[in-house]
Amino acid sequence: MEIKVKIKNFLFSGMTAALTASALLSGNAMAEKDWPSKSITLVVPFAAGGPTDTVARLIAVPMGQALGQTVVVENVNGAGGTIASTKVARAAPDGYTIYLHHMGMATANALYDKLPYDPMTSFEYIGQVADVPMVLLGKKDLPPNNFKELEAYIKANGSKITMANAGPGAVSQLCGLLFQSRMGVKLTNIPYKGTGPALTDLLGGQVDLLCDQTTQTIPYIKDGRVKAYGTTTMKRLPAIANVPTLDEQGLKGFEVKVWHGMYTPKGVPKPILDKLNAALKKSLNSPDVKKRLEDANIDIVSPDKMTPNGLKTHLEAEVNKWGPIIRKANIPD
Ligand code: MLT
Repeated sequence: MEIKVKIKNFLFSGMTAALTASALLSGNAMAEKDWPSKSITLVVPFAAGGPTDTVARLIAVPMGQALGQTVVVENVNGAGGTIASTKVARAAPDGYTIYLHHMGMATANALYDKLPYDPMTSFEYIGQVADVPMVLLGKKDLPPNNFKELEAYIKANGSKITMANAGPGAVSQLCGLLFQSRMGVKLTNIPYKGTGPALTDLLGGQVDLLCDQTTQTIPYIKDGRVKAYGTTTMKRLPAIANVPTLDEQGLKGFEVKVWHGMYTPKGVPKPILDKLNAALKKSLNSPDVKKRLEDANIDIVSPDKMTPNGLKTHLEAEVNKWGPIIRKANIPD
């Protein structure tokens, strides 16, 4: 009798567990089907008004239209993007937190002793977005008028010269410190929460040098409000063809191209990632976004790169590429 009751209880608890699991499954499937049912937060790891923020805000509107919900940009500044990466890695994997970051996702590992996330395992990948070149800029009244004069000026003044950046992990910091390593000099490096505020200070004359993306800088270069000493590309840029590359001026092979990727926390279900990928592609194909990115000399990536695998493969290659370069350049924190 007692055994019979035990078997009955066992069968009943098994049935309850199975029913609960299937209810949960169908609940999840429903949540995925109805996603998105509220606004989505697009985290940006640098200050508002800067290059990453600008790309994010450009694609947020058409992505929101494609998904039928608003995509709200949230700037989570500091520590060269690693604070935002940590926040996103720890966010709920429900598809309501998405993340736009640049190549700092691949370089931070080599710049920090320990990170609370792993770029290769803490995120899901949505796709690559766009590639942005950089320019070495000086404040308007910095004495050197070209790269040759800048080399002599740096030799004479060394650490009296200030160079702005957006913190370890930021591309402005990477570019600036690779430049100093190639010049064999240590300037006084000044961290900001993004190159938006750093560029404001360069325009105001509070800082001497900044290596920044072309996203905001082309109009200032064209109207002479900043000096452009060289681009970080192998070919001159069409929008500022009078500015020589750093490579052609003696810094052979000096190339920093800022690529961007879109991510979510690890564990977001595939149907949601598929919807996000479709919305990203749609936004990058919108004529308005294309035109605005083209005006800033920003290249939208090819369709094969706008995919989860396109981003994952590129990130992996970039982690492997930059680790040894950064260690060899002996870049300090
Ligand atoms: C920004 O948006 O402020 C920049 O991408 C920062 C940087 O990496 O230099």
